[in-house]
Amino acid sequence: MADDPTIKTLSELRVFEAEDVARLFGEVHTQFDRQTSVPTDQGRLEALRSAWLGRKSGVLTRVTENWLKTSAPALRPAVGRCLNELRAHVEQRLGELQKAAESAAEQAVLARERVDLSLPGAVRPVGSRHLLRQTFAEIERIFLSLGFTVVEGPEIETPYYNFEALNIPEHHPARDTMDTFYLETPAGAPQRLLRTHTSPMQVRTMEKQAPPVRIIVPGKVYRRDNPDATHSYVFHQVEGLAVDTDITFCEFKGTVEYFVREFLGPAAKTRLRPSYFPFTEPSVEIDASCFACGGSGCRLCKFSGWIELFGAGMVDPAVYGFVNYDAKRLSGFAFGLGVDRLSQLKYGIDDVQLFFQNDVRFLRQFA
Ligand code: PHE
Repeated sequence: MADDPTIKTLSELRVFEAEDVARLFGEVHTQFDRQTSVPTDQGRLEALRSAWLGRKSGVLTRVTENWLKTSAPALRPAVGRCLNELRAHVEQRLGELQKAAESAAEQAVLARERVDLSLPGAVRPVGSRHLLRQTFAEIERIFLSLGFTVVEGPEIETPYYNFEALNIPEHHPARDTMDTFYLETPAGAPQRLLRTHTSPMQVRTMEKQAPPVRIIVPGKVYRRDNPDATHSYVFHQVEGLAVDTDITFCEFKGTVEYFVREFLGPAAKTRLRPSYFPFTEPSVEIDASCFACGGSGCRLCKFSGWIELFGAGMVDPAVYGFVNYDAKRLSGFAFGLGVDRLSQLKYGIDDVQLFFQNDVRFLRQFA
C-alpha cells in the first residue's frame, strides 16, 4: 500500500469540507471491505492485520498521522469520528475473520480425523487357550472340588529341595533319571538348577505350613533330554500332596480313582502297579484301562489293555524328617501328574513336540 492515497495529507488531497472527509473515509472503508470480503486463512489474516492495524505503518496509523494530526481544527472532529468508526469497523471485521479462520481450521482437522462408523471393522482372529493350559485347568478343577488348594513354586531350585529333602542323597542312582540343567553360580555360592519335578514344593510347603496339608502344584519342569516324540527338555507337571493324621492307603486309592474317572470318563478303570520313588513308600504307577479299546487290547495300549498314567505313593516318613513333621502321628500321599502325557493320551496326540511348535493348525483343533 505504498502508493495508498492516505499517505497524502488532507490539504494535498484538497479536502476542506466535512462531507469530503466522510467521502474520503468511505473510499477507505470500501477498499478495506473489498480486501476482507473473501474467506481468509490464518496467514493472510496476519498480513491484513499488519497492513491495517500495524503500529508503524498500518493504514490506521498513517491516517492518524496524515489526516488527524495535520487536519485543520475545523475538520478535526469529523476526522476523529470517522477514524473511530473506521477503527471499530476494521477491528470487528478482522475479529470475525479470525473466528471464521479458526473454525475452518478446526473443521479441516475434524474432516481429516473423521471415522466412518459404517465401515466394516477389522476382523482380529481370537486365539484360544493352549491345550496344556486347558488340561491344567481341568486337573485343578477336579482337585479343587476335593478340597485341595493350588500353590506354585520356583523353577530355579537348589539341590536340597529338588533332591536331598526328597530323600535323594547325592550319588543316589535315582538322580541319573533326572539329569537337569545347572546354572552357573559364583564360586562359593549355593548351586542352582532347573527343577526336574514339582515335588520340591512338597518340602517347601510342609516347611511353612503345619498339617493338615492338601495341595496341588502346577508348573514347568526341566530335564536334560533330547527332544523327540516322547521327550522334551521342558514339560509340565501337577504335583499333589495330602498329609494329615488319618490318611490311609484307602483314601489315597480312592482319590486317585476319582481323579482318573473325572479326567478320562466314568468308564475308566484304575490299576496300581508297584514302583519306586525315593520319597514315597510304597510307590506305585497308576494305570488306566485303555480308553481306545476299553481294555481289550490295541496298538495304543500295546495290546495290554492298560495305559500308564503317572507315579504316586504314600509319603516316605524320611521326608517328614526334613520338615519337622511327626512321622509317628502323620501320614499322607503324593502324586506327580505329567500334564503333557495326560493331554497326549486324552486327545490322541502322538508327538509331544506339537505342544511347543505353536502351529495354529494344531492349536485350533482344541479351541
Ligand atoms: N516327582 C516324580 C517324577 O517326576 C513323580 C512323583 C511325584 C512320584 C510324587 C510320586 C509322588 O517322576
